[in-house]
Amino acid sequence: MTVKKICCIGAGYVGGPTMAVIAKQCPDIQVTVVDLNEARIAAWNDQDVNKIPVYEPGLSEVVSEARGRNLFFSTDVDKAIDDADMIFISVNTPTKTYGAGKGQAADLKWIELCARQIARVSKTDKIVVEKSTLPVRTASTLKDILQHTGNGVKFQILSNPEFLAEGTAVEDLLAPDRVLIGGDQNEEGKKAIEALVSVYARWVPRERILTTNVWSSELSKLTANAFLAQRVSSINSLSELCEHTEANINEVARAIGTDSRIGPKFLKASVGFGGSCFQKDILNLVYIARSYGLTEVADYWEQVIIMNDHQKKRFANKIIKTLYNTVNGKKIAFLGWAFKKDTNDTRESAAIYVADHLLYEQAQVAVYDPKVPAQQVYVDLDYLATRSSEENGKLVQIHNDPYEACKGAHAVAVLTEWDEFKHYDWKRIYDNMLKPAHIFDGRNILDRAQLESIGFKVCPIGS
Ligand code: UDX
Ligand code: UDX
Repeated sequence: MTVKKICCIGAGYVGGPTMAVIAKQCPDIQVTVVDLNEARIAAWNDQDVNKIPVYEPGLSEVVSEARGRNLFFSTDVDKAIDDADMIFISVNTPTKTYGAGKGQAADLKWIELCARQIARVSKTDKIVVEKSTLPVRTASTLKDILQHTGNGVKFQILSNPEFLAEGTAVEDLLAPDRVLIGGDQNEEGKKAIEALVSVYARWVPRERILTTNVWSSELSKLTANAFLAQRVSSINSLSELCEHTEANINEVARAIGTDSRIGPKFLKASVGFGGSCFQKDILNLVYIARSYGLTEVADYWEQVIIMNDHQKKRFANKIIKTLYNTVNGKKIAFLGWAFKKDTNDTRESAAIYVADHLLYEQAQVAVYDPKVPAQQVYVDLDYLATRSSEENGKLVQIHNDPYEACKGAHAVAVLTEWDEFKHYDWKRIYDNMLKPAHIFDGRNILDRAQLESIGFKVCPIGS
């Protein structure tokens, strides 16, 4: 079967960029991205492509090439579903905040709603593709709902997890290490797999398109994120040991990263990993393991999260301790709020937790981030519900200018590795700060020797 029309439910950080790239690479396939959130769809349709809701290097160009040609953003979900032969589900699957599995299990409420809507609307056979990261065996839930509530049409369920990283989404989509497609291992399933393979094969070499059974594919996505996060927690755990032993974490990372069995990637010590996936997916893995009674397996992976929480707290505590054990009323400038550079996404960003800890000690936090809107910082802090939004409003200021953010501060903390931070006029920042002027480099991106020669007291991670 040849795919002619694709629908994607969910116009977020994954659905938006993924569909834009599919539309760019397959001009003969009509791609419609739908979302319940009208404001988000309106933003994707904004005349000015620089105002689309997701910031990713290169994405505006891709959208401007394909939008209106074969890429459409719409709120008419029913119509897009009915028209399509292939439907991607790319809605959010956050960690449950209530009931059984609270704090660990994935909340599949939106996935189920999508399945029911697809079943209700569809009048022709469809291939349904799980794009969101889902717990292993979710496809069986989807199948159950689709088969028992549908209009008698046939559904094939595929798992095609997304491995793009934010900030490099377009690059990752255009030249992926691999594309993973899982499906039923019977004749119908294999046909469905082949239909999706032929979409990606337009630009991805065949040998990079891996096909598996649907359960392996679902579990591989959770596992990939768990392994990546584990590397960050592993190097972060050693960063603390380095600080006690005069070893230097950058040197250690380089030394072990040159071992080809280990490799250089994902060995950057940091203030802690963030983002929408790592924590959610590991918690989910822990929950699944525990639900099968696999206590040791669950504990093993949970430690990755415990280590990450520790790293964020440790960074905040180091600031407090260095500033003579009190930050009450002291201005601390945050450079960066996003969970990593080149994205405007702040979900689970380490900055949120470090700020929260400092605010608990009554610090004044001044935030500058090149891409995160001011309002988002308050939304993130209010979401924690540690204190009232009035208090957050009083204790936290947002700046559009990094030099203003740092003016009169006791300390500067680098929370995100934005490239521009490296090129600031640090002498000018130093001159306008209180002395001694401290810098806490949570990303190890600044030139320590240069800063020390200006007069800063510098505290990197892991040395
Ligand atoms: C999603 C999944 O959450 C994650 O599990 C997966 O690993 C990657 O894809 P992301 O695209 O980053 O993540 O989420 P988000 O930016 O929140 O986008 C989801 C969109 O789905 C939102 O715009 C939301 O409005 C929309 N949505 C949600 C629907 O259109 N319908 C729903 O029923 C629920
Ligand atoms: C991740 C996976 O990489 C991607 O394949 C998956 O599909 C979604 O989740 P993403 O969350 O966008 O992507 O970002 P990633 O680049 O993996 O970084 C995650 C976090 O780890 C960030 O906060 C980052 O700053 C941190 N990190 C990463 C480190 O602290 N050190 C490193 O060496 C690498």
